[in-house]
Amino acid sequence: MILIKLGGSVITDKSQYKKFNREQTSRLCQEIAASGKGTMIVHGAGSFGHVVAKQYALQSGLQDFRQIPAVARVQHDTRELSLLVTEELMKVGIPAVSVPPGSCFVMDNGRLVVKDDEALKGLTHIGVMPVMFGDVVADRSKGFSICSGDQAMEVLARKFRPKTIVFVSDVDGLFTADPKKDPDAKLIEHVDKSMLNSIDSELSVADVTGGIRGKIEEMLQMCGDSGECVLLNGTVPGRLESFLKGEDVVCTRVKV
Ligand code: IPE
Repeated sequence: MILIKLGGSVITDKSQYKKFNREQTSRLCQEIAASGKGTMIVHGAGSFGHVVAKQYALQSGLQDFRQIPAVARVQHDTRELSLLVTEELMKVGIPAVSVPPGSCFVMDNGRLVVKDDEALKGLTHIGVMPVMFGDVVADRSKGFSICSGDQAMEVLARKFRPKTIVFVSDVDGLFTADPKKDPDAKLIEHVDKSMLNSIDSELSVADVTGGIRGKIEEMLQMCGDSGECVLLNGTVPGRLESFLKGEDVVCTRVKV
């Protein structure tokens, strides 16, 4: 199985509150179906999550009861996005069901606590694809926390041991500098543990909080549960499909 995260930057327009990119999502779902590969999809929240989360500082947990309506709003909006994504998956013949991470798990100090996976395994057992996403989730110590799609990916990787983990965003992969600002930025095609210390921790990449170093550390950790983690650009038509079919594409491959 291949575990795929469709980042918020490819399924939404991140600059506009609740702007779904139906055309691109539909194309990516068609590419996934056309590859003929067994997959599991996670998606980001994009502008259905980040805009309100930022406005009410939801990443800090419960500080002020004025945040509560925003918690409900984000959960409402991310569910709306998730239904739009599962609709596109169903159109291409993939029986997908949206599963909010907070319906199965809680968090503790910003980390997902996973005790029971029976509901998730039950769905996959009958051939239904559970689709998790970035959301706000109840947190034992902080009241609530933001659960990113990446954190959901980590849990699913541990539980389902995918062969490959793919992060689909709007950049070709990891770069030596921000490719949107620096014309000399070079794509890093292969990353492994030995390179970690030479990577500038200040560099950041679209769709990622915590900078490149944090992202690589997370991915190296996930590699323990699969063969490799890959970052690729989903805005280029056909790239995801080619990768899934085993062809050589522009991307960053992370291996332990
Ligand atoms: C963010 O999830 C969740 C919320 C802001 C509620 P992600 O971090 O996975 O979303 P994207 O991919 O950056 O949009």
